[in-house]
Amino acid sequence: MRTQYEITVIIPTFNEEVNIAGIIEAVYLTLSTNKIHGEILVVDDESRDKTIKIVQDLTLKYNNLKIIVRHSDHGLSQSVVEGFRQANSDIFMVIDADFSHPPCLIPHFYDEIKKGADVVIGSRYTHGGGIKQWPLKRRVLSLGATGLGRILFPEVTDPVSGFFALRREVIEGYQLRPRGYKILMEVLGKGQWKSIIEIPFTFTDRQEGESKLSFCIISDFAKQILNIIAYSFVFRNNHVWNEWKKLTRFGLVGLSGVFVNTGLLYLFTEYLGLYYLIASGIAIEISILNNFLLNDCWTFKIKDEPDLYIQNWFHRFFSFQCVSIVGLLINMGILYFLTDFFGIYYLISNFIGILIVFFWNYLVNRNLTWKA
Ligand code: GDD
Repeated sequence: MRTQYEITVIIPTFNEEVNIAGIIEAVYLTLSTNKIHGEILVVDDESRDKTIKIVQDLTLKYNNLKIIVRHSDHGLSQSVVEGFRQANSDIFMVIDADFSHPPCLIPHFYDEIKKGADVVIGSRYTHGGGIKQWPLKRRVLSLGATGLGRILFPEVTDPVSGFFALRREVIEGYQLRPRGYKILMEVLGKGQWKSIIEIPFTFTDRQEGESKLSFCIISDFAKQILNIIAYSFVFRNNHVWNEWKKLTRFGLVGLSGVFVNTGLLYLFTEYLGLYYLIASGIAIEISILNNFLLNDCWTFKIKDEPDLYIQNWFHRFFSFQCVSIVGLLINMGILYFLTDFFGIYYLISNFIGILIVFFWNYLVNRNLTWKA
């Protein structure tokens, strides 16, 4: 416990001479007008411009401002972790120096933590959030990273956001060794948390200076995902492990559905003499029911109040049924598109379709049918 301040606002910087004075002033004013006794911690990786000098000068004006200059193992995520280590409070807030994140939302993050959330995330992808002035390439990269992140953390819409707050306990005692830009993924993957709140915000691309995102950052991201998965296998009792278990069970249930479907199709056609398309329709419906029942009691272990069970059961079944039918249509669309437009061998197209639809089914059902 370090309760000298109510919150520590961590600002990682590298060559931010054009933005740094402005963001410090904005954070300072936000904290003081909202009567939050906060610390401002700039963590710099030996900027080659005047950033360090500007902050040092400003420490004379703002007595709650501090700068840490790191001399080795440079990187955005590593700097944020150093900020966590040196913070003099039990609530941490991370914000970019370049005004991509609106400092006026800091009190909102603080309030949510005070109300009981473990982690509060500024999200671009939740209702009301958005992105301004991003080139197409950047949008595509971000969607790819977010999609991968969501497989590990399906309940979070923006697991790669750089704008977030958390309680000290979430990460205390855990070894964070992040690389690259996605520090939040490390916090979610290795820390212990129960409740997450997302606050929508509009990410505004920097007006001054330039992004330091490079190809290395993308390969760092891939390594980080593998590292978080490996960590979850070793230490187990964390979110990724639980998610992993659900995903595996969902996959096994899906596999059982394939056997039920094929077996019934054979039985109805060969022994009952049904026309094979009619037999297939019935077999598909029964395999959907099979998958639903197994997922309901095994994968997601639903324990409803007895008086609500029947009503909720029908709700979930209806939702699962709709997701399965849409999944089937997507699968057929991918099969047609890849085979007809790209000339890919139809069995390979089908396999790619199954893979994509599997993740689609999992994510939609996880967040809709069996919303935790
Ligand atoms: N200490 C330190 N060391 N700070 C760094 C470094 C570094 O190596 N690289 C960048 N920063 C600081 C910048 O000075 C800025 O304050 C902040 O980190 C974000 O850097 P940008 O390079 O502007 O990031 P971006 O706009 O491309 O990426 C943002 O969006 C991502 C989501 O798409 C960041 O908010 C990321 O954290 C976020 O994941």
